[in-house]
Amino acid sequence: MLDVNHISKSYGPTLAVDDITFQARKGEVLGFLGPNGAGKTTTMRMITGFLPPSRGAVTVDGIPMRQDPIAAKRRIGYLPELPPIYPEFTVESYLQFVARLKKIPAAQRRAAVDRALERAALGQVRKRIIGRLSKGYRQRVGIAQAILNEPPLLILDEPTAGLDPRQILETRQLVRSLAGEHTIILSTHILAEAATTCERVIIIHHGKLVAVDTPENLTHRLRTTDTVHLEARAPAAEAAAALRGLPGVLRVDPLGEHAGLARLEIECQNAQAREALARRVVEAGWALAELRPVELSLEEIFLSLTAEAAAPSADAAHAPEAPLQ
Ligand SMILES: Nc1ncnc2c1ncn2[C@@H]1O[C@H](COP(=O)(O)OP(=O)(O)O)[C@@H](O)[C@H]1O
Ligand SMILES: [Mg+2]
Repeated sequence: MLDVNHISKSYGPTLAVDDITFQARKGEVLGFLGPNGAGKTTTMRMITGFLPPSRGAVTVDGIPMRQDPIAAKRRIGYLPELPPIYPEFTVESYLQFVARLKKIPAAQRRAAVDRALERAALGQVRKRIIGRLSKGYRQRVGIAQAILNEPPLLILDEPTAGLDPRQILETRQLVRSLAGEHTIILSTHILAEAATTCERVIIIHHGKLVAVDTPENLTHRLRTTDTVHLEARAPAAEAAAALRGLPGVLRVDPLGEHAGLARLEIECQNAQAREALARRVVEAGWALAELRPVELSLEEIFLSLTAEAAAPSADAAHAPEAPLQ
């Protein structure tokens, strides 16, 4: 569906995107995950044909962007970082206007607008002025204009940025409901968002692609041990002493006490160790207030992945010493 082949982009001396290659399958939701400045927007603008790559090529649905930009762009719906919305229009008249820009034949415009309004759950606000809508609704208007001509590929640049938690959930649901029908690429700097919304995640850091995998595999690759946060009604030092040395418990760090609750960060070898922790706390007669896995932060993931890429793998390093079989 989409073939991105060794694209790079320089802005003067800044190499914003450095040799990115990947493919997207039909109907999949692919996430671009990376901190601000990683190169997500620049990559998306090259895919959509808004920005020519300094090097490399993009092919959409078999059509090379460089050779046939009009046909390639017609297959893409794009929600830029700043949606191209005219605040003085009503939702419906704006979508009518975009339908004309996208050269949807006059006889089909009404049906296309109705369909986009329905898909983006905008039916109730179709007569409202865009400038008076909440940011969540405005973002949906941005998505509605992107899907207007039913493009097979949707590119959504940080579709949940700046939204409140409820609007974020609604937008994620909308994105998932559009998958299958469209191939979707969305960017985010939030790890949990990539993990919950996307089937595959591309991690971009300093313009380079550092990993492409399913969220599950990425977590497994990164998580050789299991870190948990534990809170119990106990003196912190006593609790730490009781938990150290349990089978599968590698490290216990007391984080302090708060309102009579000891807070500990504990590194475990496996999930069984977690059960042993809970049992030990209860046996000691302490109330167990919390026991939850500690999520890896985006920063830790980058550190780990970039270290993985820079250092030879452990297997390779140890290979010469391994006995011959
Ligand atoms: N028009 C531009 N001119 C010069 N530098 C730019 C321009 N757009 C982006 N950059 C630089 O390119 C890098 C990648 O930016 P961007 O693609 O916007 O990242 P992201 O979307 O991941 O936050 C950043 O260092 C940014 O400062
Ligand atoms: Mg961006």
